[in-house]
Amino acid sequence: MAAESQKTFYLETFGCQMNVHDSEKVIGTLISEGYRQVQTVEEAGLILYNTCSIRDKAEQKVFHRLADYKKLQAQGKRFGVLGCVAQQEGEKIFERAPFVSLVCGSASYRNLPQMLVQVEAGKQRVTGIDDRETDECFETEFTARSNPHRGYITIIEGCDKFCAYCVVPFTRGKERSRTSESVLGEARQMAALGYTEIQLLGQNVNSYHDPAEKKTFAELLSAVSEIAGIRRVRFTTSHPRDFGRDIVEVIDSHPTLCDHVHLPVQSGSTRVLDAMQRLYTRDQYLERIAWMKAAKREISITSDIIVGFPGETEADFEQTLSLLDEVEYDGVFGFKYSPRPNTPSLKLDDAVPEAEKARRLSVVQEKQREIQRRRYQRHVGQRLEVMVEGKNDARGQWIGRTSQNKVLNFVQRDGVSPVMGGYVSVVTTGSFPNSLLGEMVI
Ligand code: SAH
Ligand code: SF4
Ligand code: F3S
Repeated sequence: MAAESQKTFYLETFGCQMNVHDSEKVIGTLISEGYRQVQTVEEAGLILYNTCSIRDKAEQKVFHRLADYKKLQAQGKRFGVLGCVAQQEGEKIFERAPFVSLVCGSASYRNLPQMLVQVEAGKQRVTGIDDRETDECFETEFTARSNPHRGYITIIEGCDKFCAYCVVPFTRGKERSRTSESVLGEARQMAALGYTEIQLLGQNVNSYHDPAEKKTFAELLSAVSEIAGIRRVRFTTSHPRDFGRDIVEVIDSHPTLCDHVHLPVQSGSTRVLDAMQRLYTRDQYLERIAWMKAAKREISITSDIIVGFPGETEADFEQTLSLLDEVEYDGVFGFKYSPRPNTPSLKLDDAVPEAEKARRLSVVQEKQREIQRRRYQRHVGQRLEVMVEGKNDARGQWIGRTSQNKVLNFVQRDGVSPVMGGYVSVVTTGSFPNSLLGEMVI
């Protein structure tokens, strides 16, 4: 018993929601192996980083962390690198940081128990790296979900799209879908545990193909949203190429499906989209936007934009700006193009200078801020349902989230205190470019 409780770990997570959810699986697995999670590196015997490699800055973070804590190795602590940098760099990590004893990509998390026994026994250089051909999904036996109300479910792993700039097909392996039966089983289990919101995850959720019953993505959405007890279903990220009208129709007919779609465009120029190998044109993208705008429910649309892809001219960039005006997104994540290992665009000439990338990014952000100012303002006066996510005591406000995924801060009604994870109705009284303000009505 004493020996068991001495096994402690610290885990820091970088990157996307898939990584966040993978960390929940890693934590569940470690706890089932008798480890205890601690909140500081100092308290921990085992220090793990679940890493992201999407842009150079993200990758550098893990090496900075490792350099910061190198001195702790003398205290007998062990270090492990998990996730996308682990998969991408493999054993090279041991050369760069010799005090690391575990390197493990996401497809190998199910083998963590055996790997940890080796690490604990003092073995150096324990690896779990997969080739791109693995068919295994990354389900682990245990998952320690950090939020008791909203839970993630991975429905599809990996990516076969190979956009010219992107590491994901190399770090997450080939595309493979879970059976709808196993997804629905997990969703029902979560509903039984009291979860009311489910978020379906995948690099391209809508490329989902049920390997057994042949359910389409839209059919899966409708089945999950019909589970008793589930009040909200979200899904991210959708790829424009595989975005069919049936998805809009199912959102329209199922109020449990949240009225929000994240549909990254990356660029407004067909020429750049072609160089990026995104598999759609500007017009095809805008056609999908038109389907959503014609829906009976108002669907909130958000996007990702990359500026400064090699060869992006001023005229191409203007096309991205005009697309922002045309679509009027409710949110945009903008990124400067970052050259990544293994990716085809590494070989392209005509790099856009760093200062120009920075300028383009700030132009995108400024324009989008003005668009959002308008977009958020139109909610003023509306009555919206929010899930209660937190409380800001200093301001005397509660923090809620609307179905459209917008933050709505609100004051409670006298004598009626909202509960965390509960749903309340709020009348919107004010707006900012990134949040709303309101008063609770029920
Ligand atoms: N699968 C999703 C998004 C995956 S990565 C899709 O295809 O839309 C999340 C975002 O990171 C991307 O949408 C893209 O905007 C950005 N990104 C990916 N690789 C990048 C790179 N090399 N440089 C800059 N941004 C990048
Ligand atoms: Fe990367 Fe493209 Fe796959 Fe998205 S679709 S994960 S951007 S390769
Ligand atoms: Fe990063 Fe890997 Fe996600 S590269 S964005 S953590 S899939």
